[in-house]
Amino acid sequence: MSRTVIRGGLVITASDEIHADVLIEDGRIAALAASGTPAAEAWTADRVVDATGKYVVPGGVDVHTHMELPFGGTFASDTFETGTRAAAWGGTTTIVDFAVQSVGRSLREGLDTWHAKAEGNCAIDYGFHMIVSDVDAETLKEMDLLVEEGVTSFKQFMAYPGVFYSDDGQILRAMQRSAENGGLIMMHAENGIAIDVLVEQALARGETDPRYHGEVRKALLEAEATHRAIRLAQVAGAPLYVVHVSAAEAVAELARARDDGLNVFGETCPQYLFLSTDNLAEPGFEGAKYVCSTPLRPREHQARLWQGLRTNDLQVVSTDHCPFCFVGQKELGRGDFSKIPNGLPGVENRMDLLHQAVVDGHIGRRRWIEIACATPARMFGLYPKKGTIAPGADADVVVYDPHAEQVISAGTHHMNVDYSAYEGRRVTGRVETVLSRGEPVITEREYTGRAGHGVYTPRSTCQYLH
Ligand code: URP
Ligand code: ZN
Ligand code: ZN
Ligand code: ZN
Repeated sequence: MSRTVIRGGLVITASDEIHADVLIEDGRIAALAASGTPAAEAWTADRVVDATGKYVVPGGVDVHTHMELPFGGTFASDTFETGTRAAAWGGTTTIVDFAVQSVGRSLREGLDTWHAKAEGNCAIDYGFHMIVSDVDAETLKEMDLLVEEGVTSFKQFMAYPGVFYSDDGQILRAMQRSAENGGLIMMHAENGIAIDVLVEQALARGETDPRYHGEVRKALLEAEATHRAIRLAQVAGAPLYVVHVSAAEAVAELARARDDGLNVFGETCPQYLFLSTDNLAEPGFEGAKYVCSTPLRPREHQARLWQGLRTNDLQVVSTDHCPFCFVGQKELGRGDFSKIPNGLPGVENRMDLLHQAVVDGHIGRRRWIEIACATPARMFGLYPKKGTIAPGADADVVVYDPHAEQVISAGTHHMNVDYSAYEGRRVTGRVETVLSRGEPVITEREYTGRAGHGVYTPRSTCQYLH
C-alpha cells in the first residue's frame, strides 16, 4: 500500500476551506485531519508533500476538449498525449472530450475511433461525450447503449449546416430519447442557417478579415438558438446544457428558463471572460488566432457572464480547447474568414485564469473550485470520484501557489500550438504539484507523469438536476 501525505495547506473544495493534512492511500483520499493535531501528526507516509502557504484543491475537471478534432480540412493540433500533458501542467486532472459521429456512420464507430486515439496516450483520466451529427432511428437506439456504458451526454449543433448540423426535428427526437435514457443534450446554440446567409453576404461585399467572423455570428442568433433549444427541451421534458455561452442575451435566456424552474444549464469559457472582439480585430490576420464559435463578443458582454457565474445562471467554465496552429492551419482562412478553422487553445490556462478571477474579485475561492471542478464533475456523472477532496475520492489533487506570479506565453506553455491566446498576460497563482490518483504528474514544476497513466472513466448520468 502506497501512502502520501500533503501537509500544511489550505484545503479548498466547493463547500469548505480548512487547514488540513490530506492522507492518500492507494490512489484515493483516505482521510483529512486538521494540520498540527495529533491525528494528522501520527500519519506516516512514503511521500510527504509540503503545502505550507499553498492551496490544496481538487484537480480541474475540463468537460469540453477537442483533441485531434477533424475540422475545416485539418486536425486540432493537440493529440491526447500532448493535450493531456498540457492539461496536467495547468492543474486539470480529468478531461471529457468529444467523440464524433461522422454523417452516415454509427455512434459506435465514432466512439471506437476516439477510444483508439486516447487509449495508452493520456497523462490524466478522460471520458467522452458523443457528437451526434446524424439523428436517425439507429442513432437513437445507440444513444441508449452509450448511456449504459458511461457516455452519458450528447452534443448537437444548431450551427455548421452540412457538417455537424441537426435540424429542429432531429434535435427534438434526440431530446425525447435523452428524457427517457437519462442522457444530457449539450447544445451548440447558434442559428447556423441564418449565419451562413450572412457569411455569404459579407464575403460578397469583400469583408474577408477575421473580424467579420464576429460580426456575422451575431449575439442575437446565439440568443435565438438558445431560446429555441430551451423550448425544444421543455417540450421533450429533457434537461439541457448549453455549451460555450458567450452572449449576454443568451445568458438572459438561460436565466429566464431557470427562473421558470427548468433543468437548463450553461457553460462559458475563459476566452469569453477575458478576450473580446478587440482581439478578433487585431491587424495583419492576427485576429485569426481568436476565431472560435460561438465567437468572442464586445467587451460589454463579459460583465453579464461574470454575473451569471456568481448567480449560478452559468454553472461551468470549461475550455472548449480546440487548438490550431497559426502557421499552416489558421492561415487556411487568409482571404476568407469562413475558412479559418474554429477553435482556441486553453486547456492549460483555465485553472490559472479562473484563479486570477478570484484575485480580481469576480468570484470567490470556493466558487472557483465549484465552476472548475465540482459542478462539471456533478453535471457529467463523475462526482465524488472527481471534483472534490473527500474520503473515497480519487486522489486527483493540485498544490497551488496563490502568490506566485507568471506570464502566460507560447514560449513556455506545453500545448502543441504555436501561439497563446493570452500571450503576455500576467496572472497571480501557479500550479506547483499535481497528483492523478495519487501519482505525481507534476512535481514542483517538473513533469513526472507518463502517457498511459490516464484511464478511460465511464460516467453516470447527470447528478445536477433539481
Ligand atoms: O470554435 C470552436 N468552438 N471549435 C470547436 C467546435 C465547437 O463548436 O465546440
Ligand atoms: Zn460548439
Ligand atoms: Zn435566476
Ligand atoms: Zn467545442
